[in-house]
Amino acid sequence: MTSRSYATPSTPPPVPGHVAVIMDGNGRWASDRGLPRQEGHRAGMTAVRETLEGCVEAGIETLTLFAFSTENWERPEEEVASVMGLLKYYAEKEEAELREKGVRVRILGDRERLDDGVRAAIDRIEEATADGSRLRLNLMLSYSGRDEILRAARLLAGRVAAGELDPAEIDEERLEDALYTRGLPDPDLLIRTSGEFRLSNFMLWQLAYTEILIAPVLWPDFTREDLHAAVQEYQRRERRFGRVSPS
Ligand code: IPE
Ligand code: IPE
Ligand code: MG
Repeated sequence: MTSRSYATPSTPPPVPGHVAVIMDGNGRWASDRGLPRQEGHRAGMTAVRETLEGCVEAGIETLTLFAFSTENWERPEEEVASVMGLLKYYAEKEEAELREKGVRVRILGDRERLDDGVRAAIDRIEEATADGSRLRLNLMLSYSGRDEILRAARLLAGRVAAGELDPAEIDEERLEDALYTRGLPDPDLLIRTSGEFRLSNFMLWQLAYTEILIAPVLWPDFTREDLHAAVQEYQRRERRFGRVSPS
């Protein structure tokens, strides 16, 4: 379970331990320039690097990036292929640097739908960075919150049917153990770029008490300064978790 604490005037506000990002606006960034959407996805890679470095600078322990949703499979074939190609390229090209920075990469989502080449690249980067202890980077790929909860329901139902689990024993902890994010704390801060006010099926279970920040910039234009500004905004928030303020 996440540690749930209050910021009081006597203690400096903590940086968020876990930041999650809905990286949105690549297509609009490209159309604004008269370029194909794929060029927006390519430009978005710079923002991934910026955000990662910003997180290391700020001492953030976990960064979770929404890279491709279950619904994104419905996009035109060439766009899907370009996003998958870029992910593979990123995994291969950045491996040495990620290792050097102490980043541990994990890919969370429905791997069955990925093609063999992408699967091999992500297996490799996970293995190559497994010792990283400075920052955990989770890339949510072929992921949606509903799909994740359905999968958890199926896993738990299977254990009940096998006589290993009594339905009365299913609590938050057991359900969390059946999610892709098993073992991770809930996000403290969610950033969505491109000014859209919606979750688009992202981490529906885990975001229950997350602070949300909508950034107006399109994802390829997001910089580490934008990240630091988001962290400062987070530090001004008062988290109550349904309780009353202690002051
Ligand atoms: C986010 O940018 C990246 C992915 C979903 C892969 P979009 O591609 O959604 O860009 P917009 O929202 O159409 O501008
Ligand atoms: C959410 O953005 C998915 C990712 C950022 C990977 P979308 O662009 O797919 O969401 P909608 O369609 O605007 O809700
Ligand atoms: Mg979008």
